[in-house]
Parts: sequence; structure tokens; C-alpha cells
Amino acid sequence: MKKFKIIFQPSGRRGEIEEGKTVLDAAQALGVDIEALCGGKKVCGKCKVRIEEGYFEKDNIESGMEHLSPITEDEKKHIKPEDGPGIRLACTAEIHGDLKVFVPERSRAGKQVVRKAAKELSIKLDPAVKKYNVELSQPSLHDMTTGDMERVLRFLEEDYGLKGLSFDYTALRELQDALRKEEWKITVSVWMDREIIKIEPGYVEPSYGLAVDIGTTTVVGYLCDMNTGRVINTESMMNPQVPYGEDVMSRITYAMTNPDGLRKMQDAIIEGLNEIIERVSADLRTNGKNGSL
Ligand code: FES
Repeated sequence: MKKFKIIFQPSGRRGEIEEGKTVLDAAQALGVDIEALCGGKKVCGKCKVRIEEGYFEKDNIESGMEHLSPITEDEKKHIKPEDGPGIRLACTAEIHGDLKVFVPERSRAGKQVVRKAAKELSIKLDPAVKKYNVELSQPSLHDMTTGDMERVLRFLEEDYGLKGLSFDYTALRELQDALRKEEWKITVSVWMDREIIKIEPGYVEPSYGLAVDIGTTTVVGYLCDMNTGRVINTESMMNPQVPYGEDVMSRITYAMTNPDGLRKMQDAIIEGLNEIIERVSADLRTNGKNGSL
């Protein structure tokens, strides 16, 4: 019986598996945890894995979707466009060639908890984006020729000493409605004391920032309260670039030897960061706290 090379990421477990076995069989044989709630009956859709495409020099393996049995109707029911490319159900896809398989965080049975604690340091809080409360008087007959934008800029200069600010176009579009919504009170977010990037109606106190630590193995997001500097939530994950190489050198090699390797790795980290943002700010959204990130 023919055997093929299978590598699972991010665990790095690998081995030779007989042709015709499913990816789930291979995972179980190699001790890789994949969520299989329905026990491989093709109904739960939890066992999604991503097949990496291309030649991986470090492992000397050519992996691709064509090394699996064709996608079935059962799988099509579970695989959504938002899952991204290369997704198959591990319990259904049969092995017919060498494979590099990435098990996404949500498909891992014993989900890995990766934590990196943020060290508390005493530093002067000076965020790049600051919020300013602005209250204008209602336009009157002798102030009719001054537009909303000029009046806001004048207020920021007189009350906060902010001179020569520019206005981001999308923020400017919000200005007219925001001013009239909360009786001429707005909160203005200013980047580097240079550019107005956001307008919110009324006075909005909460302000959040995200510090990101992209390590070779781990990616961590620290949600910070920008008024106090406190870290209020932390989320982390395995770096989704791990399938392209466990260390920086092998990732550089992957980018140099695969024409779209760099783009794939960039897409992977952006997707990972978006997931971190989603998770780290979930509590704020469920508690209905407003404010801006
Ligand atoms: S294990 Fe349930 S669909 Fe694959």
C-alpha cells in the first residue's frame, strides 16, 4: 500500500500515512487533536482543516488540494466562503498525496492556551490618538458664514491649543450629523495632534488601544484603556504563519521560493490579528460599552 508524507501544523507532528485514509485518521494516528464532535459522521462540520498549497523546501514536501479526494456534497454544506481557501473536512478528505495540513484554532480539540503576561511599567501616558470634548454654541445670525468644520477647528485651537489640524475626509462626513444629534456636543479623536480622524456625537469617555506582540510562535493582543493605561484584556494565539515555517529563516525561504508566499503569510497574520481584535473586544461589545478602538 502506497504511503504519503503528512505534516500537521502548528503542532509540527508528521508521519507517513497509507493512501485512502482520511485526514482525521492521519491526525488521530499522529496524536493531533482535531475537534470531531460527530465522530466523523460528516454532520458537525467542526473538523475543518486548511490544506497548505505549494512546495515547502524545509520539509521537502509539495502539498496541494489535488492530493485529496474530490470535495463532496456533505463538505460543501459546511464550508463557507468566509472560511477562506483550502478548507476541507478532515473526516471526509482522503489522502492521495503528500500534505501539509493546518489545523485552525477553532478546530483544535484541546484548544491551546497561549498566554504572555504584560509586564506593568510606569510610563507617562501619551497616546498617539487623544480625545477632546467639543461644545459649540448653536450657529447664530452673526455667525452664519462660518461652517461647522471651521467652528470645530477654532474651538480646538482656542480651548486646547491645537493649531493647523487637518480633517480626515470620512470623519468630516460625520461632522454635520454628529453636531446636531447631541446639541452641538461632540468628541473628536485627534491623531498625533495633527489630524482629526474620528467624530462621535456627545461626550464619549472610554477610549481603547491595542498593543500587539507578533512573535515567531505566538501572537498576543493587549487591550488597553487609553485613559488609565491599564491592560484590560489579553488574547493570544499561535502565530498563523507557523505553517509556512517554524522559524524566521524558513519563512523567508518560503517567501523567496513561492511566488505568492509573501502574500499568503501576510494574509495569514492579518486574519490572525483580526481574530485577536474580535476576541479581545468581545466583552466590550456584549457589555454595550461604547468608545473607540
Ligand atoms: S467530525 Fe463531524 S463533520 Fe467531520
